[in-house]
Amino acid sequence: MGDCFRCIRSLNRPSNRSSVLNPGPLNPWRLSVAPMMDWTDRHCRVFHRQITRHTRLYTEMVTTGALLHGDVPRHLDFDPVEQPLALQLGGSEPDDLARCARLAQDWGYDEVNLNCGCPSERVQRGAFGACLMAEADLVAGGLKAMQDVVDIPVTVKHRIGIDRVDSYDFVRDFVGTLATRSGCRVFIVHARNAWLQGLSPKENREIPPLRPELVHRLKRDFPELIIVINGGITSNQQIAEQLQHVDGVMVGRESYHNPWLMADWDAMFLGAEPRLGDRLTVERDMVVYLQKLAAAGTPWSHASRHMLGLWHGQPGARRWRQVWSDHRLKGIDPAQVHLRAHAGNPRPAEALSLESSA
Ligand SMILES: Cc1cc2nc3c(=O)[nH]c(=O)nc-3n(C[C@H](O)[C@H](O)[C@H](O)COP(=O)(O)O)c2cc1C
Repeated sequence: MGDCFRCIRSLNRPSNRSSVLNPGPLNPWRLSVAPMMDWTDRHCRVFHRQITRHTRLYTEMVTTGALLHGDVPRHLDFDPVEQPLALQLGGSEPDDLARCARLAQDWGYDEVNLNCGCPSERVQRGAFGACLMAEADLVAGGLKAMQDVVDIPVTVKHRIGIDRVDSYDFVRDFVGTLATRSGCRVFIVHARNAWLQGLSPKENREIPPLRPELVHRLKRDFPELIIVINGGITSNQQIAEQLQHVDGVMVGRESYHNPWLMADWDAMFLGAEPRLGDRLTVERDMVVYLQKLAAAGTPWSHASRHMLGLWHGQPGARRWRQVWSDHRLKGIDPAQVHLRAHAGNPRPAEALSLESSA
C-alpha cells in the first residue's frame, strides 16, 4: 500500500510550487458551510443565502435507507436560491449509494457527498460514517458506483483518522485508495480523528486534537486533488491563512452561531460583488420568508431558530434573541415579533417600515 502511494505521489508532484496552491477563486469548493444534522436544513440554507450568494452549501446527512424507503420530497426538496448545493449521503452499500446519487442528480443538486466522518453510535451500527475509514476499498466501490451513474461531482468528507491511529500514512492511504480506485477528486477533511468509542458526537468535534498540518500535507502529496480543510475555523483571517495551503475551507459551527461572518465571503474570497444589505435587511427578508411559511401551514419557528445568531456580538443581541426564541410568541405574525425584538434598539424606524408593508 505504502509503495503504491509513493508512486502516485511522485506522479502527482508539481513541477513548481505555485501549482500546489489554490487553483483560483472559481474553484467551487473554495468556501462552504458544513453539513450539520438538525441545523443545515432547507430553512437554514435559505437564511445563509441571504448573507452569502456564492458559498457552497451542504444538506444535513440523509441516509440511503431514509431516501430509498422514505419520503423523498421531504428529504430532497430545496429552493433553487440555495444553490450551489450539495446533498450529503450516509450509507455504504454501493447499489444504494448509486440509486441515491441518481436521485440527487435528478432533483437538481450540484454535488453528492459521502459522509465518512460521523462518529455517532447509531451511524456505526449502520456501518457507515467515520467507521468507513477502516474500509477504504468499500468506500472506493461506493464512490465509483455513484460516479458511474451521475455527471455531478461525487465527493467525500472524512476525518484524518479513527480512534488513536495518529499516523499520517493512514489518511494518506485512505485518500490514495479512493482517488485511484474510484476517481474521486474532492476530499473534504475534518482535521481531527474520530474516536469511535467513549465520546459523544459533540465531544468528537471538540476533544480529538486538530491537526491541520496533516491536511496541508495531503494537498502537497496529492496536488491534483481538491483538498478542503474543515474543523475549528472561526475567522476570515484563518480562512485566508488556510487557503495558502489547501483549495478550500469548510466552516461549520461558526457559520451557524455567527452567520454574519459570511457577509464578506463573496467579495473577499469568491471574486463576486459584495452584498448590499445589512443585518436588518436580512432580517426583514427573513420575516417575509417566515410569513410565507406560516401562510403555507409551516410554523415559522422552524426557520427562525436558525437565524438566532444574526446579531451575534451586537448591542442588544441577547434581548433580540430572547424575543425571537420566546415560544409564547409563536402564534403571532413574525413582523410583530421582529418589531418587539428591536423595541428599545436604535433601529425602530426601519423596523417599523416593515410593519406597514406587512
Ligand atoms: C450539530 C452538528 C451536526 C453535524 N452533522 C453533520 C452531518 O450530518 N454530516 C457531517 O459530515 N458532519 C456533521 N457535523 C460536523 C460538521 O460538518 C463539521 O465537520 C464539524 O462541526 C467541524 O467543523 P467546525 O469546527 O467548523 O464546526 C455536524 C456538526 C454539528 C455541530
